[in-house]
Amino acid sequence: MPAGTQVDYDGLIPNNIGLNADPALRRALETWHPGYIDWWKGSGPAGFQDSLVYLRTAIGVDPEGWARFGFVKMPDYRWGILLAPAVEGRRIGFGAHKGEPAWQDVPGEYRAALRRLLVIQGDTEPASVEQQRHLGATAPSLYDLRNLFQVNVEEGRHLWAMVYLLQKYFGRDGREEAEDLLRRRSGDPDAPRMLGAFNEATPDWLSFFLFTFFTDRDGKMQLAALAQSAFDPLSRTCRFMLTEEAHHMFVGDTGIQRIVQRTLEAMRAAGIDDPTDTDRVRALGVIDLPTLQRKMNLHFSLTLDLFGNELSSNAANAYTAGLKGRYREDKIDDDHLLRDATYPVLRWRDGVAAIEPAPALSALNMRLRDDYVAECEHGVARWNKAIAAAGYDFRLILPHVGFNRRIGAFAGAPIAPDGAVLDTAAWQARRDAFLPSAADGAYIESLMRPVAVPGQYAPWIAPPRAGIDNKPGDFEYVRMAE
Ligand SMILES: [Fe+2]
Ligand SMILES: [Fe+2]
Repeated sequence: MPAGTQVDYDGLIPNNIGLNADPALRRALETWHPGYIDWWKGSGPAGFQDSLVYLRTAIGVDPEGWARFGFVKMPDYRWGILLAPAVEGRRIGFGAHKGEPAWQDVPGEYRAALRRLLVIQGDTEPASVEQQRHLGATAPSLYDLRNLFQVNVEEGRHLWAMVYLLQKYFGRDGREEAEDLLRRRSGDPDAPRMLGAFNEATPDWLSFFLFTFFTDRDGKMQLAALAQSAFDPLSRTCRFMLTEEAHHMFVGDTGIQRIVQRTLEAMRAAGIDDPTDTDRVRALGVIDLPTLQRKMNLHFSLTLDLFGNELSSNAANAYTAGLKGRYREDKIDDDHLLRDATYPVLRWRDGVAAIEPAPALSALNMRLRDDYVAECEHGVARWNKAIAAAGYDFRLILPHVGFNRRIGAFAGAPIAPDGAVLDTAAWQARRDAFLPSAADGAYIESLMRPVAVPGQYAPWIAPPRAGIDNKPGDFEYVRMAE
């Protein structure tokens, strides 16, 4: 077995970090644990805490067979601390320390910056669980209910991952940050989560699928950039989190695919040729494509704000220090210093969006966002393929990156989803054509009726192509408590 893949699964906290040999850390984590369970029960999934859910639990870090599937009650889930195997002789791949051995501890000069990165990442993990806590009541199937809970317990585990780093490497400060991560709440006016998109509501399952497609994918990009870190424990932590994250995006991607598929089938069966004939499509009890487009516009624009300002000295400093790299830094063919390089940045100048070269170090947020948008395009292309195959002349699009922004160069810019620049009054007048309206919300809510019969699905979503863990179509993924 390669070094670092052995997981101790016997204690309270499954781990492959040798927790038994580190009593101080073990004590800190065991002290934090009851507060976590309180948080889970009070702010995690509402209801279903006594149901048996068919979940995967990480029990190893081998790419093959790292998870075990079985029925567990969610509060009994074995949240553990798992790091991807160490890379023998790993060296720093970028920035001022490029070529030096990766750090096994935090250099004093970077403590504050690194702590901040961990806290911001850590804060998003429980936030999404809080945002999704009421969705169990309206799940379109037991399959989807199970997937929701799988995502939720793994976001919980990602919180553990960041808390481990804080408690192990940041002493008292880290323990206080770990407490604060349980204190803030999504949408709480007094103690909100740190980033805007994580204080928004996730009111329905269409929002959930778009959140896991768009917002979990931002998480993936951030984790991928942190996986390049010179701080080796952070790199290993993020590399393992990424294996779990893939499933979250799968849930979102296939969720939207199944919605689109169902809508196409229903329109075809009813002889509807115009997918924008919203009244007729809605009369079928499925989600019309223009509504899906407006919900996409909302989730995409909220998520773009998570990348921060296009030009950022914080991002430049984190890169030069070796704390956070670029997406796939190790696959990029350049000097990995970026001192003289430039990068094309989309700017908003005198009412016009224009590309201007900027110092590449300052433009790292922009670059990560570009990589993110390119990935999103792939997903949308898959959905459009299904629409075209069904013979409909309709395309879902990613809105212009300047649309509906609150952060960065385009904050408040009156740009339409198609990139047209409007005046503010015209933008406001068309708001309900761009973003979900109250009527859209009410219609979607009217569809959200739970289906809890094994193998059956709500009428607005197609069944998945395959079961989880190769289970048959009528598998009972969640056994309700009596
Ligand atoms: Fe996560
Ligand atoms: Fe996730």
